[in-house]
Amino acid sequence: MENFKKKILVTGGAGFIGSHVIRRLLRNYPNYLIVNADKLTYAGNLENLSDVDSLPNYRFEKIDIVDTESVKSVFSKYGITDVIHLAAESHVDRSIEGPMEFVMTNVVGTVNLLQGARENWNGDTNHVFHHVSTDEVYGSLGDEGLFTEETSYDPRSPYSASKASSDHFVMAYFHTYGLPIKMSNCSNNYGSHHFPEKLIPLMIHNIQHKKPLPVYGKGDNIRDWLWVEDHASAIDAIFHNGRIGESYNVGGLNEWTNLELVRFLCRLMDEKLGRVEGESEELITYVKDRAGHDKRYAIDAIKLEKELGWKPSITFEEGLSKTVDWYLENQNWIEKVTSGSYKDYYENMYANR
Ligand code: NAD
Ligand code: DAU
Repeated sequence: MENFKKKILVTGGAGFIGSHVIRRLLRNYPNYLIVNADKLTYAGNLENLSDVDSLPNYRFEKIDIVDTESVKSVFSKYGITDVIHLAAESHVDRSIEGPMEFVMTNVVGTVNLLQGARENWNGDTNHVFHHVSTDEVYGSLGDEGLFTEETSYDPRSPYSASKASSDHFVMAYFHTYGLPIKMSNCSNNYGSHHFPEKLIPLMIHNIQHKKPLPVYGKGDNIRDWLWVEDHASAIDAIFHNGRIGESYNVGGLNEWTNLELVRFLCRLMDEKLGRVEGESEELITYVKDRAGHDKRYAIDAIKLEKELGWKPSITFEEGLSKTVDWYLENQNWIEKVTSGSYKDYYENMYANR
């Protein structure tokens, strides 16, 4: 264990983005030990790492970051030198139904990790605590403008309020205790291994199975989509070369209304599935809007580009096509991750809309 150059604790590594971050780190840095700490909630699946989990520099610890003692013991067991923190409750609709889990994991869990790092690193600044956050902390945009790192925080859902709170704690640990933190705030991700409660994988699944496509409200809310592997490359760049105490916005300048996006997916899948053009669009169903639904998110990532030379590597059209292919080729994955408690949740939720 002593021979590893860094011993990085990645939290939430069995989730969507975390699994892509771990895959990238394991492959690109064989001299780093990567310790994946994950509670394996409904959103966490070790399946997501089945192609890399036998690599010699990978370890897994099933822990709840809300549990202080578990966090402490992982730090001391491995002599953790750095943290990339992704574990979170991540779904806005669930936060509206039950905010407390979001407070516990996203706020209390984050403070536990900050405290663990502070106690173990003992004032030594030769470490990195990289907190992965979201553009939703900035609130909702009108028709014009982009979120920059200077935009005031204005979270509006229980999810974004919990993430904003965690961001504030991260910055507080930097200013108060000198903990060497870095932070990133990213726009909506899409790609493989995305849990099918989120817009894109849900729509892909429903188009394939000719089920209704539930568009909230009028479908005119706007999101700024980024391929998950580009988010992982941004995290890699910020973790290694970003400045301590700074936050970096991550996004692809790729805004779509939900309706345009669903229609685009319908056309793409009609073609891939050999259906008549326009067939899948008939599945679009307008349902009750999300409470407090943020109108528009759009990220200005110029700081990241200028300071670290980061840019998205592929177009949305390419990324979406690869993503659809992955879902069509990985039916077993969908079956596995949606069995159990998720089925009841899904059925209740859409029965109520
Ligand atoms: P996800 O829901 O797919 O995965 C979250 C992971 O955290 C799961 O593996 C889950 O088991 C684990 N987890 C949850 N509670 C835990 C706890 N108490 N202890 C330990 N592990 C726990 O989420 P994601 O979409 O991969 O998001 C990862 C991070 O990136 C989150 O912090 C999220 O806020 C942020 N983010 C997500 C997006 C996006 O578009 N998905 C965009 C920007 C930022
Ligand atoms: O912006 C970053 C955030 O993106 C992350 O911090 C969150 O963790 C992540 O879940 C995501 O949040 P959104 O709420 O934007 O993503 P979601 O996929 O849930 O919804 C995208 C848009 O699509 C949103 O405007 C709501 C709408 N929607 C969603 C679902 C699930 C629908 O119209 N129908 C649906 O069935």
